[in-house]
Amino acid sequence: MKKQLLGLLLLAFFLPIQSQHGLGAIDIPATSILTDDQINCLLNNIGDDDEVIAQVYTKDGEFNENGIQNLIHANDDDGQWPAAYVTPCRNANNTCKNGLMSGADQAMTVINRLNQENMVVFMFLEIKKGNNWPADQLGNRDFILNFTNTVKDAFTKGIFTGGVGIYTSYNDWAQVVGGNWTGASDMDLWWVKWNGKQDLYTDFTPFGGWTAPCFHQYAGNVINNNCANGVPVNYDYYDECDCQDEVCFKEFKKRQAQKKVDKLQHKYDRRH
Ligand SMILES: *[C@@H]1O[C@H](CO)[C@@H](O)[C@H](O)[C@H]1NC(C)=O
Ligand SMILES: *[C@@H]1O[C@H](CO)[C@@H](O)[C@H](O)[C@H]1NC(C)=O
Ligand SMILES: *[C@@H]1O[C@H](CO)[C@@H](O)[C@H](O)[C@H]1NC(C)=O
Repeated sequence: MKKQLLGLLLLAFFLPIQSQHGLGAIDIPATSILTDDQINCLLNNIGDDDEVIAQVYTKDGEFNENGIQNLIHANDDDGQWPAAYVTPCRNANNTCKNGLMSGADQAMTVINRLNQENMVVFMFLEIKKGNNWPADQLGNRDFILNFTNTVKDAFTKGIFTGGVGIYTSYNDWAQVVGGNWTGASDMDLWWVKWNGKQDLYTDFTPFGGWTAPCFHQYAGNVINNNCANGVPVNYDYYDECDCQDEVCFKEFKKRQAQKKVDKLQHKYDRRH
């Protein structure tokens, strides 16, 4: 019993300061399903308190079932879910497999699926020019906001309790919406720059209204590792960043930490 209480105190003490230094994450483009052991092994390679990020929706307009399985394998026993990313189906020919074209419809179908799986994840929206985005930058901006505003509405209504951010690079953002468009800068930026630097500032040129990223993907498509050799893995670094609202990653982590404390408290109370 004493151990429980000590654990509770330690947890309450350490969780808030955990985020004061930079941490590692891996993201798995999910061409294959990894086992719990493989995921743990990859995480052990990069440090202690880490995140796994996996794709849950693809540019073709369908769920990434491998990615969803990887998130389930990466979930720890306390129900502390990692993060997910959505590659929206937005292409010049409107050929989305599930027939859902609007940002709002795609956001809702993802939220419904996550809820079905009982997943509480932080959701990044990937903006990547290679995915046949139309040249119409104004239309692309509307699409992005239609998606993210739907997630925010769902958050306000309590249908989705994760959070939402943007996953992109300088060049992708410039091409898809125009580098000076700041309409999404209230959300966290997960910045792609394969420069091998585990920080948030080397080589960062402001764009889109962001003055700094929250996450940095510093290496990508790395297939040599001793855990799941041949499976491409991307490496990320994240740290404290400006938090503009309740849907940011920092607030998400706070809610998760609180949940963990509540759960332990509940366990402790039941024994006394
Ligand atoms: C869109 O359709 C045009 C005309 O059919 C075709 O040439 C082009 O390759 C298609 N693009 C994509 C991304 O499917
Ligand atoms: C998304 O776009 C649709 C169609 O234009 C619109 O009816 C809906 O209100 C928009 N939703 C949000 C949250 O912006
Ligand atoms: C923003 O616009 C200015 C002036 O047109 C341009 O020089 C600059 O490169 C643009 N910034 C980005 C990030 O695209």
